[in-house]
Amino acid sequence: MEVNMDKKYEEDLENFCDHGDIGDDWCGEDVLQAILTWIKSNIECDDPILDIGCGNANIIFQLYHQGFVNVTGIDKSPVAIKLATEISHQECVKVKLEVCDVMGSVPSDMAESPLNKKYRLILDKGLYDSYATAGSTVYTKAKQEQFRETYSKNMRELLMPGGILLVATCCHTETYLKQTIGQRGHFKVREVLPTPSFEFGGKKGHNVTVVAFQK
Ligand SMILES: C[S@@+](CC[C@H](N)C(=O)[O-])C[C@H]1O[C@@H](n2cnc3c(N)ncnc32)[C@H](O)[C@@H]1O
Repeated sequence: MEVNMDKKYEEDLENFCDHGDIGDDWCGEDVLQAILTWIKSNIECDDPILDIGCGNANIIFQLYHQGFVNVTGIDKSPVAIKLATEISHQECVKVKLEVCDVMGSVPSDMAESPLNKKYRLILDKGLYDSYATAGSTVYTKAKQEQFRETYSKNMRELLMPGGILLVATCCHTETYLKQTIGQRGHFKVREVLPTPSFEFGGKKGHNVTVVAFQK
């Protein structure tokens, strides 16, 4: 089932405008730091980075503050991009933020579109999760299959040779990611990041799986 998060982003935008609160990161601070540490050791500061489904773009602001100068965030939700843009103004952060559907076709006539560029790193923190979950009656098996095909194809097109796709998920297992993105999408597994469990909705023990795939 595909999740529409516009309502949540509208509430987040209201909160941010009221009292400057950007909200908590769903994967927790420890996991966030583990991802940032990995990026710092594996990606150069001027490498082009694309955050797909960036939401409030928290992680790319953190990357910017740590010296990454070529960072773009896209989300298909205009409310998410409005929220991210408001935060970027407050934090005086210069990153490119744009409404884009990464599952759509690449517009060949729009040279400036983030989908018409090549990246060293694509960061997917929760987008793979927001689509098909196994056993969903709403999203049929055929649709799930179609999603996985299009996702892998589009990621390959957006990455430079040797580029990295870093996927963080709280819905899927490492095995599932390796089968659906690795084997089926013809990506090599570069590394599985060790990540601590995190607290969600007041409950501890949720796990985030983070896998770095290489084209
Ligand atoms: C679970 S949220 C994660 C947001 C953010 N990355 C984070 O970690 O907080 C998934 C995001 O993916 C976005 N999304 C879903 N499908 C998309 C698509 N086809 N193209 C771009 N963004 C998409 C949603 O609007 C949502 O903001």
